[in-house]
Amino acid sequence: MKIVICSDAAQTRRLAAQVLAQQVKSKPTSVLGLATGRTMEAIYAQMAETAQQQALDFSRVTTFNLDEYIGLTADHPQSYRYYMQTHLFQRINIPAANTHVPDGAAADVEAEAQSYEGRISQAGGIDLQLLGLGENGHIGFNEPLSALNSRTHVVTLAQATLKQNAGMFNNDMEQVPARALTMGTGTILDSREALLVVTGEAKADIVARVIEGPVSALVPGSALQLHPHCLVLLDEAAASRLTQREAILWQMQHDLELRTFLSA
Ligand code: GLP
Repeated sequence: MKIVICSDAAQTRRLAAQVLAQQVKSKPTSVLGLATGRTMEAIYAQMAETAQQQALDFSRVTTFNLDEYIGLTADHPQSYRYYMQTHLFQRINIPAANTHVPDGAAADVEAEAQSYEGRISQAGGIDLQLLGLGENGHIGFNEPLSALNSRTHVVTLAQATLKQNAGMFNNDMEQVPARALTMGTGTILDSREALLVVTGEAKADIVARVIEGPVSALVPGSALQLHPHCLVLLDEAAASRLTQREAILWQMQHDLELRTFLSA
């Protein structure tokens, strides 16, 4: 893992947008893995701005989202398809046919999971996977205790996730769909590059477990320690419980790749 501790959340957004922009510039046919959640909203706003300023061309980019609630149709305001349309797709020049989100309204969700995994392979795999982190350590909707080598599958959401995401459902846990489709942790680990972005004090404990803890199914995000090219962007608050802070700052100053990235 390469880790960058940013002065604030705004810097994490700028750097995340910079990584995405660089990916699209260097490979206009990139396959991007995309995430949702509140952290990503700000990143997509920054991304849309960067895309406009730098006239980024998304016309040949393909995207695959991590996950979707089962039972919500694409036009449901809390569906991740709707979220992506609103926060990103309608603000960049990506053809609708190039954007993929698992179909949570599919009649056969198991078949949809398999077909989604197949579509990722057919597209040549994911070049860059953007990731947020759940307060319980989930990535995508891979909840604690799920297999670390899983492929796209159907999950039952953890109680902690229903609580965390209730804010988008009138603060009512009961309204949050109980199941979802998610890329597996194994699917995520197959991406050529991964970019994990975490901000805020509320995630400081889980960030320490993801980065410094043992790799464990209890903390699905810890599987990213096995990813050969994973960049982690944290703000000071999210990094506040890391014991290796000094070592991370030293790397930021001395690692050639990080120095080039941070001075761009
Ligand atoms: C949802 C998504 C996750 C995301 C998480 C973080 O649960 N399924 O992929 O990482 O939200 O959410 P937030 O950024 O709102 O804390």
